[in-house]
Amino acid sequence: MKRPPSANQYRTAWAGDLRASEVGEEVRVAGWVHRRRDHGGLIFVDLRDRSGLLQLVLHPQSAPEAHAAAHDLRSEAAISVGGKVVARSADTVNPTLATGEIELAVSELRVLATSPTPPFPIDEDVEVDEVLRLRHRSLDLRRETMRDALVLRDAVVAVMRELLAAEDFVDIETPILTIASPSGARDFLVPARTHRGSFYALPQSPQLFKQLLMFAGFERYYQIARCFRDEDSRADRQPEFTQLDVELSFIGEEDVLALTERVMARVFEIGGFAVAAPPWPRLTYADAIARYGIDRPDTRFGLELHDVGELLRGSEFKVFESVLSASGVVRALNAGAHELSRAEQDGLNEIVQRYGAKAVAPIYAGDGGWRGNLAKFFTAQAIDAVNRELGAQDGDLLLFVADRAEVAAQALGALRLELGERFGLIDETRHDVLWVTDFPMFEWSETEQRFAAVHHPFTAPAPASGASELDFSDPGALLARAYDLVCDGVELGGGSIRINTPELQQEVFKVIGLSEEEAGARFGFLLEALRYGAPPHGGIALGVDRIVAICAGRESIRDVIAFPKTASGVDPLTGAPAPVDSAQLRELGLRTLA
Ligand code: AMO
Repeated sequence: MKRPPSANQYRTAWAGDLRASEVGEEVRVAGWVHRRRDHGGLIFVDLRDRSGLLQLVLHPQSAPEAHAAAHDLRSEAAISVGGKVVARSADTVNPTLATGEIELAVSELRVLATSPTPPFPIDEDVEVDEVLRLRHRSLDLRRETMRDALVLRDAVVAVMRELLAAEDFVDIETPILTIASPSGARDFLVPARTHRGSFYALPQSPQLFKQLLMFAGFERYYQIARCFRDEDSRADRQPEFTQLDVELSFIGEEDVLALTERVMARVFEIGGFAVAAPPWPRLTYADAIARYGIDRPDTRFGLELHDVGELLRGSEFKVFESVLSASGVVRALNAGAHELSRAEQDGLNEIVQRYGAKAVAPIYAGDGGWRGNLAKFFTAQAIDAVNRELGAQDGDLLLFVADRAEVAAQALGALRLELGERFGLIDETRHDVLWVTDFPMFEWSETEQRFAAVHHPFTAPAPASGASELDFSDPGALLARAYDLVCDGVELGGGSIRINTPELQQEVFKVIGLSEEEAGARFGFLLEALRYGAPPHGGIALGVDRIVAICAGRESIRDVIAFPKTASGVDPLTGAPAPVDSAQLRELGLRTLA
């Protein structure tokens, strides 16, 4: 650890920092009993503090009182000990421990607090039920891997702050109690006692405030911002999470991308996460969907998707023909030389059905064409063309999905990820970071029967592909000046260049179905502020939890958050969320429905 503690009654040194150079010195260390071994005469205790482990040795002759006290020591008791640093004999050196060449010959032992047997072992990295870990989080965080993850998180955030401060960014806090927003997720609401029937909302992100700070002339803003979204948790999603939120004025896309690359390259370095040096590759949204079926592709393995509809059009196979004639697509991937059992095939169907596809058609390449009973529906010429497109060799398994374009992309994209994992195609030591650009501005929502902004409605639109003017008569074709940073199939961050005139902002609101009155009621403050010379501006938000998780090699962001919620949004530690008493509700003018 960098700074030694100032000496006090409990410790004069960090236990894990002591080395052979300190042999002969009298020191005092404090921490927890990690392990205790009674060798008849001698008692050994591994003492743990934040810096690491140190072996204590207690002799019955030279320190009888301390030795007697050590008899009753149990794991996880808090202790402070004084003694002399001594070298271990050559045969007892422990090369796996940083302090392994020495031990502390204890002369005095103080038990500061005892502990019953913990509900799970602290001294081994064993699988423990997560709810139990979260319920006893202070014990869970004593474990080395958890401590390391949170210390890494601190280092990552520190380097973000350091780099941005060096580039003249100003850290500004924005409100936690704010107004409900129209982003993708549901808001968490907070009843306002002083305005019965009205609610604050917790911010889904500081988006509009950071834009207002640009209008205000701060030029360069950042914040390590807590965000709140009432959506179902997943491994990489929490109802409350942290962003590195950034916004700049008088800039374009290239400025934001280059800044992000400078910051993230350094973060990855600090995190010990090996990626290529920037500039990082860019993939358009359209290419990402066409090749990987998803806008956050894991590019560490092949199995790319191919559109084979045109090659197969006009076949005898009714399933494909009816989809193609209804403007659908047939897409396929070459899964390589793998034979699937009936059960495995059913498993693949289950995956694509989750995305609304009916089924996947498996075909084996062989005998210079296709094996199996589907082959007879297609001409030799079509089969040959598809085999060439998919690079198919005899024995390769070709998987086809025919459906609406979005469904086929999603279904095959999911299949690709599943097979990549199942066939062990992902090189876990390799990490691919890339940008996805040229997102569509709007997407049609079937359920709501209206357009929604793909990024958010404050993002500046760009002309449709190949066009030079913004044409709002076909909103679905417009592109967005938005970009996402993706690593190994995880979306680490996203941002955009923003709208900076009230006219364009109103136009976008109109497309997403907000009338002028509704827009005025919800975003009047933004529209008003936009009138007074709002500079061109844009920015990005990077998901701190996800970044730390990938650097720490953790599957779940819960492992890099000190006090996270479970997948069902519960905190087993405090019991939140919990009912409140009726007096509290009455004061807020609220009543709950059973
Ligand atoms: P966006 O909604 O894409 O953009 O969020 C940015 C990044 O935040 C992380 N993230 C999450 N992490 C954990 N749990 C969640 N529930 C969660 N939701 C998002 C992701 C994501 O890439 N205001 C815009 C940014 C901008 O335009 O500048 C925004 O919030 O890593």
